[in-house]
Amino acid sequence: MLASQRDGLWITVGEEKMLNFSSNDYLGLSTHTEVCAVAKDAIERYGVGSGASRLVSGDAPLLHTFEQALAAWKGFDACLVVGSGMLANIGLLQALADRHTHIFSDKLNHASLVDGARLSGAKVHRYPHLNLDVLGNMLQKHTAKQRIIVSDGVFSMDGDTADVQALLNLAETHDALLLIDDAHGTGVVGKHGKGLLTQAGIVGHSRLLEVGTLGKAFGSYGAYVLGTHEMIEGLKQRMRTLIYSTALPLSVIAAAQVTLHIMQNTDVVEKLQQNIQYFLSQAKGIHLMPSTTAIQPMLLGEDEQALLAAQRLRTQGFFVPAIRPPTVPQGQSRLRITLSAAHQKQDINALIHALFNLG
Ligand SMILES: Cc1ncc(COP(=O)(O)O)c(C=O)c1O
Repeated sequence: MLASQRDGLWITVGEEKMLNFSSNDYLGLSTHTEVCAVAKDAIERYGVGSGASRLVSGDAPLLHTFEQALAAWKGFDACLVVGSGMLANIGLLQALADRHTHIFSDKLNHASLVDGARLSGAKVHRYPHLNLDVLGNMLQKHTAKQRIIVSDGVFSMDGDTADVQALLNLAETHDALLLIDDAHGTGVVGKHGKGLLTQAGIVGHSRLLEVGTLGKAFGSYGAYVLGTHEMIEGLKQRMRTLIYSTALPLSVIAAAQVTLHIMQNTDVVEKLQQNIQYFLSQAKGIHLMPSTTAIQPMLLGEDEQALLAAQRLRTQGFFVPAIRPPTVPQGQSRLRITLSAAHQKQDINALIHALFNLG
């Protein structure tokens, strides 16, 4: 781990101050003046910690107000706010599944879904990335009573997207539940960043659960689960990472509430989407992996090549760390470039110039 200090778009590591192209703060809202002011005010009103689990005495009205706002915005019946995306996925899968359940999981799913599936005790079937034919065959073959299809929406290390409509069709055909983690789609994909499921027009479906984090485009901390009233009520009774963990500090929820308002009422998401289009238009000829999201990986292969490329970028003032196994498969080390609404055209031009010069 590298100790680093962020200052808006800049990041300082040791003595080096660089432009940051590796943050998931996709809208640049983690340092937004109004968001910070509201968080500060919330600390003054409520203190820094929540003092207990939501099931004991940590269940503040602000959590409920935010959950209702998020559910309404996303088009789901109900929402449950939990500690982080990692805690959400681990707790959720443990609550939904047991040793009689079969979980069908994309091979490139985020570690939190992989660990959640493993810890649930369910039988786990991993299908090749995005390969719905194989998934269909697996569902046909494994006819357990309770089955759950699990997938990232936007894949965290590749930036490509799942065909969520086709996944829902498979879930309906095979009487399964579908869990989509849209941590990297929310605030990024679709009008006002409502995410992949809204874009596909399938939000609120009775077989569908959505997970998201407040730690990326929301610029804050925490996570949420969206689903039907029945599903969310069930989770409140069974989700151990909710029940046995201290509730989030209210300052992070107050911050996320402002961020949500900013996403809904300004052009910040459009700005990010324009930056992505601009980056792609200028990057023709650079060996990028296919992605139309804020995650734009450049595949380099072996670890050494990725490390060397990251080092060369550093010397030119850009922070884009190499991503290596086990985070990505062997031989697929890469630079994971992420774009933000806060980047200016000249920042993107400068990075593109440096990427071309990597050779
Ligand atoms: C797809 C996905 N799900 C969940 C998480 C975890 O979210 P959090 O950082 O809130 O624990 C991440 C973060 O890296 C992610 O990429």
